[in-house]
Amino acid sequence: MNIYNPIDLLFGGMEKLGPGGNVHTLHLLRLLPKQQFRVIVDAGCGVGRQTMVLAKELGTLVHAVDSHEAFLNDLTQRAKEARIEHLVQTHCIDMKDIPDVFQHIDLLWSEGAAYNIGFSNALTIWASAINPDGFAVVSELSWLREQVPNAVREFFQSGYPDMQSIQQNLAVAENAGYRVLTTYTLPKEAWVEGYYDVLEPRAKALIDHPDSSVRDFAVETVKEIEIFRCSEDSYGYVFYVLQRT
Ligand SMILES: C[S@@+](CC[C@H](N)C(=O)[O-])C[C@H]1O[C@@H](n2cnc3c(N)ncnc32)[C@H](O)[C@@H]1O
Repeated sequence: MNIYNPIDLLFGGMEKLGPGGNVHTLHLLRLLPKQQFRVIVDAGCGVGRQTMVLAKELGTLVHAVDSHEAFLNDLTQRAKEARIEHLVQTHCIDMKDIPDVFQHIDLLWSEGAAYNIGFSNALTIWASAINPDGFAVVSELSWLREQVPNAVREFFQSGYPDMQSIQQNLAVAENAGYRVLTTYTLPKEAWVEGYYDVLEPRAKALIDHPDSSVRDFAVETVKEIEIFRCSEDSYGYVFYVLQRT
C-alpha cells in the first residue's frame, strides 16, 4: 500500500482546489434569472469553497458531492466553523451517480470538476436529474483562440486531449439538453491567487520526494504552471451557464 497520497500531500489544507474565487462564484450566481432553488447539488465540490458561498448567499441546503472523503471531511469542518453546517450536506459518491441519488435538481453547480468524467458525458448524465427549466453552471477548460503556442498544444495533447473550443462546448451543451444563457471566462488572477501561488512552492518542495508517484505529480504540476505562464491566453476556464430544456 502507498502510504503517500500525492493528492493529500499537494492539496492538503488548501481552500481552493482549482482556479476560481468567491467573487466569481457570486457573479455567476447573480447571472441566473432567479435566486431561489429547492434542490442544489455541487458536483466535485472538493473542500467546498464554492459550496459555502452558495449556501451562505442562498440560505439553502447545498448537497456537496465528491468522491474523495478527506475533502468532504475538510468541508464539514469548515462549514461548522462558519456556523452553516445545517446548510451543507456531504455525499461521498461518484458524480456520475448523481441521478441515482437526486432526481429533481433545481441548480447543478460544478467548478473545475466535470472533466473528470468528461464534460459532454457529465452534462448528459446530469441532464436526466435536473428539473425542466432548472439550471446548470459548469466550468470547463476551453481553448480561447486558434493560435496556440506549440509547447501549450503539446502539453494538452497528452494532459487533456479532449479540450474543446467555446463554440464546440456550446454545441455539446445544446446536444445534451440545455439552452445556453451565457458564458464567463475566469480572469488570470483567479488561477494564481490562492491556487498556483500556493501550489507552486508546494510542488517544487515535493520534486525530490522518495515516493515516485508524489514526484511525478509534483513535476507535472510545476510543468502545468509553467505552461500557464506561456499560454498567451490560448486557453482558460470557461463557465457555461445553462438552463435545462
Ligand atoms: C480540481 S478539484 C475542484 C474542486 C472544487 N470544485 C474547487 O473548485 O475548489 C476536482 C474535484 O473533483 C473531485 N472528483 C474527481 N473525480 C470525481 C468523481 N468521479 N466523482 C466525484 N468527485 C470527483 C475531486 O476529488 C476534486 O475534489
